[in-house]
Amino acid sequence: MLKPVNVFEYEKQARECLELAIWDYYQGGSDDEITLRANRSAFENIRLRPRVLVDVSTIDMSTTVLGSPVQMPLLIAPTAFHRLAHYDGECATARAVDAAGSLMVVATFATCSLESIAAVCDTNRLWFQLYIYRDLIVTEELVRRAEAAGYRAIVLTVDAPRLGRRERDMRNAFALPATMSIANFSTSGYAGSYIPEPAIVTWQTLEWLRSATTLPIVLKGIMTRNDAQLAVAHGIDGIVVSNHGGRQLDGTIASIEALPEVIEGADGRCEVYCDGGIRRGTDVLKALALGARAVLVGRPTLWGLAVNGEEGVRHVLQLLHDELALAMSLAGCPTLQDIQASLLKNA
Ligand SMILES: Cc1cc2nc3c(=O)[nH]c(=O)nc-3n(C[C@H](O)[C@H](O)[C@H](O)COP(=O)(O)O)c2cc1C
Repeated sequence: MLKPVNVFEYEKQARECLELAIWDYYQGGSDDEITLRANRSAFENIRLRPRVLVDVSTIDMSTTVLGSPVQMPLLIAPTAFHRLAHYDGECATARAVDAAGSLMVVATFATCSLESIAAVCDTNRLWFQLYIYRDLIVTEELVRRAEAAGYRAIVLTVDAPRLGRRERDMRNAFALPATMSIANFSTSGYAGSYIPEPAIVTWQTLEWLRSATTLPIVLKGIMTRNDAQLAVAHGIDGIVVSNHGGRQLDGTIASIEALPEVIEGADGRCEVYCDGGIRRGTDVLKALALGARAVLVGRPTLWGLAVNGEEGVRHVLQLLHDELALAMSLAGCPTLQDIQASLLKNA
């Protein structure tokens, strides 16, 4: 197969590499996949207003996220079950992230244990995604293990009190093959009790989590100004504006459309990131112009992993890095500080 020249070509090649049930699990959204499609079309409807005659001979896109330096404002969103794409699973992804100088949010539902992932990369590049379980002792033990392994933040996913209706998975009777496990649970003897439904997770639970760890806490799945205001009132350190890649409530606005009001609600009191439908350097540029500190990609990582393991993820990150550098050059923005709202239509 020809080496892909963009993320969409990775998507096409990944389709060839994966059996249908896995492809559908990775690719799918909930219900009618309206939000899934909106995440892409919203980016296509945002138009840029480039500046010219700016010295763009050097492009600097390095930044920090919650104090951790990253070489680009593009991070890896937590996605479950990487070993379905490649035998080395999350460890391969983590090595690629390390080489790219990015940062990975490791999913609770990883198919490599959080400790084994931490062993293969600089742990300054790792945050841990958490679901709250009915049994808070299970939850707390996961937090302790992430702390002990050197993870730098806890990313609590708040848009999944129940799982969205993924009809592709229902049709395929999707399940993990017997040769794989949710490694974080099987190593600690909790196999089987991991399913969070119907855990009761409210702002009070968040107060419990705040008191249970000194790590920074990021809420993933905030979509409104009101919830952003509540998040900062509860001492949250970061927000990921996200609709879970269109996999939870179908019919929501695209996450990039929610970004401006969340930024207003956060009012500069915490960092705000965004995920959903980022496939091009210009998408990153648009999200940053709307005020995101960084963006995250979900499915593109899985496509890279499926096509060529660690190398594939590394190349996907390189493509997005290079596209962003070019987009910054052509927009007249040599640094991240130059990327302002005035870059967008109607600003
Ligand atoms: C296959 C798959 C599994 C996912 N698993 C999780 C998960 O375990 N926890 C979580 O918070 N988000 C999960 N997500 C959502 C991603 O973190 C992210 O919000 C979304 O994929 C971003 O959209 P994109 O795929 O269009 O880049 C998953 C997404 C996909 C596609």
